[in-house]
Amino acid sequence: MKALILVGGFGTRLRPLTLSVPKPLVEFANKPMILHQIEALKAIGVTEVVLAINYQPELMLNFLNEFETKLDIKITISRETEPLGTAGPLALARDKLVDGSGEPFFALNSDVISEYPLKRMIAFHKSHGGEASIMVTKVDEPSKYGVVVMEEKTGQVKEFVEKPKSYVDNKINAGIYLLNPSVLDRIELRPTSIEKEVFPQIAGEKKLFAMVLPGFWMDVGQPKDYISGLSLYLDSLRKRDSFKLATGPHIRGNVLIDESARIGEGCLIGPDVAIGPCCVVESGVRLSRCTLMRNVRIKKHACISSSIIGWHSTVGQWARVENMTILGEDVHVCDEIYSNGGVVLPHKQIKSSILKPEILL
Ligand code: GDD
Ligand code: MG
Repeated sequence: MKALILVGGFGTRLRPLTLSVPKPLVEFANKPMILHQIEALKAIGVTEVVLAINYQPELMLNFLNEFETKLDIKITISRETEPLGTAGPLALARDKLVDGSGEPFFALNSDVISEYPLKRMIAFHKSHGGEASIMVTKVDEPSKYGVVVMEEKTGQVKEFVEKPKSYVDNKINAGIYLLNPSVLDRIELRPTSIEKEVFPQIAGEKKLFAMVLPGFWMDVGQPKDYISGLSLYLDSLRKRDSFKLATGPHIRGNVLIDESARIGEGCLIGPDVAIGPCCVVESGVRLSRCTLMRNVRIKKHACISSSIIGWHSTVGQWARVENMTILGEDVHVCDEIYSNGGVVLPHKQIKSSILKPEILL
């Protein structure tokens, strides 16, 4: 079985992290986002994953070389010369996806995190006999997603409205699809949207079916959702593989710490924290609801909450970093600084406090 992951887009909502690496390679819970998906696909027997790329292909190629062998799965690239949206890339990759067997293939947005119940999706797809299956989930704020109106019993989609202006329903497209090859006949090779042009058409012919996704779901393509998504993910990890979570008197709730990270004396860490490889957390530090990317140093008695600290950055002693502060790669926050929601571009030094949420160029 094959799968395509949409890896394009500029990831602008996850800047400044995406100024350093493409969004799918930004680590989520200590693992590049896209790896969560590739592992889930591999686990249910997908043998080839096609990455649909239009941005920074070199970085992606390096990544692939490392993981193709590690994961023992074929990963190929389908490269656009212009962004083709969310449907055009499927037409471009047609020859890679279709092998004449008529077997359906998966298509995924690269920024969605869930327990990926793909086996159940295959069973669902077989049961309804339609042309395409999509997973849906309930959210509080449906207007920023594709909204789906479906018949509860059968799952048949009656309406698909991408980012509606007024309220339609609270079930939304989770960005995980299983498609028959015939769907490709509906897509022209040009910039086009699967949500606006393809799904409404298939729904109109009563051949689009939706399955309510069991378990948690989050699009982690924006800082606030990334931080909430980590909490949901760690909660689900606690149920599945609790041995992967940190334990000890200094840990509160769910915390993931890479084994190469060093944690000093008298820290209090958690809940909902991910600490990446080679990080150094000095003594007396307080961390909650935050992510430290690879090689970050947090100096003594600093306090970090609801924030993301980019690769190779440092936070000085007694500093206080909170309220959706996002530090890009290689940012240095001086001692005793306060950051209230600062979004800091890579390679900066912060010498004075950021008192209200703002972007520091
Ligand atoms: N190859 C390629 N080329 N990929 C693209 C392009 C492109 O031109 N544009 C976007 N993508 C990829 C993104 O990298 C992402 O994986 C996926 O397509 C969806 O794009 P987003 O920019 O993340 O869309 P969204 O989050 O606003 O909305 C989409 O996801 C929601 C669920 O998270 C839609 O599919 C909604 O219907 C859905 O509810
Ligand atoms: Mg998204």
